[in-house]
Amino acid sequence: MNQVWIKKSQDKLKEEVFRALEENVSYIDKSILGVPASYLNDKVFNQDVAFLKDAPFLSALVQNPNHIGCHTLGASESFFTGTHAIEKELIEICAVDILKGNIGEQDGYIASGGTEANIQAIWIYRNYFQKELGAEQSEIAIICSEDSHYSMDKASNLLSISLYKYLVDQEDRSVKKECLIETIALAKTEGKKYFIFVANMMTTMFGSIDDIELIVEVLKEQEVLFKIHVDGAYGGFYYPFSNEESLLTFKNPAISSFTLDAHKMAQSPYGTGIFLIRKGLIEYVNTKEASYVEGEDFTLIGSRSGANAIAVWMILCKNGPFGWYEKIFILQKRAEWLSKQLDKLNIAYYRNSFSNIITIKSASIEKDLAEKYYLVPDNHTKPKWYKVVIMEHVTVDLLILLVQDLEKINSLKS
Ligand SMILES: Cc1ncc(COP(=O)(O)O)c(C=O)c1O
Repeated sequence: MNQVWIKKSQDKLKEEVFRALEENVSYIDKSILGVPASYLNDKVFNQDVAFLKDAPFLSALVQNPNHIGCHTLGASESFFTGTHAIEKELIEICAVDILKGNIGEQDGYIASGGTEANIQAIWIYRNYFQKELGAEQSEIAIICSEDSHYSMDKASNLLSISLYKYLVDQEDRSVKKECLIETIALAKTEGKKYFIFVANMMTTMFGSIDDIELIVEVLKEQEVLFKIHVDGAYGGFYYPFSNEESLLTFKNPAISSFTLDAHKMAQSPYGTGIFLIRKGLIEYVNTKEASYVEGEDFTLIGSRSGANAIAVWMILCKNGPFGWYEKIFILQKRAEWLSKQLDKLNIAYYRNSFSNIITIKSASIEKDLAEKYYLVPDNHTKPKWYKVVIMEHVTVDLLILLVQDLEKINSLKS
């Protein structure tokens, strides 16, 4: 049963957003002299009350609240308490109702995207290993699969931590125990003792999901110290709904944090990555030098738009949890439909049964056809795979055009 996430009418959303904006300080009504911030530039952006009165998101954009810092712990900037409370509720919806955490037991914030949220997690665990266990920088490793997103490469580079990628099965993209053991063994021989493991909840190219039970089993068998972050940038608003038995939740004690991206499956504006972590860990990246920020800063980003949090909160509350299940159910049905058509045509592809990404082997589809439908390759110079991503706008009426073209080519070959 959902605890925080409830469906709300458009009128209710409007009322709550406008009330929150009123609880923020107003650059118009108050004498705000001390902050390097203001409402959006009124030479360009219409501030007309009549124009904005039915538009809570646009009103938030125009009023431009800054959500700098993390609002799930300690104090925050008092200027924007109204909209901070909306962000706090959004974090709770994601941590509790989507990822099955207990109320009040997670921290989090709206990051610029999945990249930042992944880097934030790795930054926290690096500092945790150093501060709590006396780890040397050179003894810490990031470990993830070859299918993981390239933000792990960025994190490795930025934070100066070695990155080890284990190979997956080339056909079913699954974690292979022997490959994982081999990679950990290599890292150990290179002096690594502390492992920041990033597990995938739907990979970028394949939509594949890592076997968390196997990963934890191997890490324990190998007797290494580890922290696990789950990259659900793509899958976070999909997989928990397509697989209700998911083990990638806060109920799993081995997992400490998650990345979810609302600007992918939730169709929110860019700038809406979501970082969630069990309480007691985000403090390892508190930048105490942020002394002019009320409550200091536990985030990587610094200033960020409060309108982004409001957009995601509105999207989730307008749909409600059951609406979200229905949305994912329809995408699953479309993905199943396309899989069946590809099976009939003997086209080689990969799809995890809980996912809406269908990745076709490049040998099974002409380059021109892939380009005609804007299918994204795994590699632009030497593609081995092309993916179809079944988003909201990718209806069966669109998918059938691709299927018909594939049928034509098949009939010409036979
Ligand atoms: C699995 C995964 N992680 C991280 C990211 C990075 O997200 P962003 O582009 O929002 O930084 C992506 C983006 O495609 C992704 O698919």
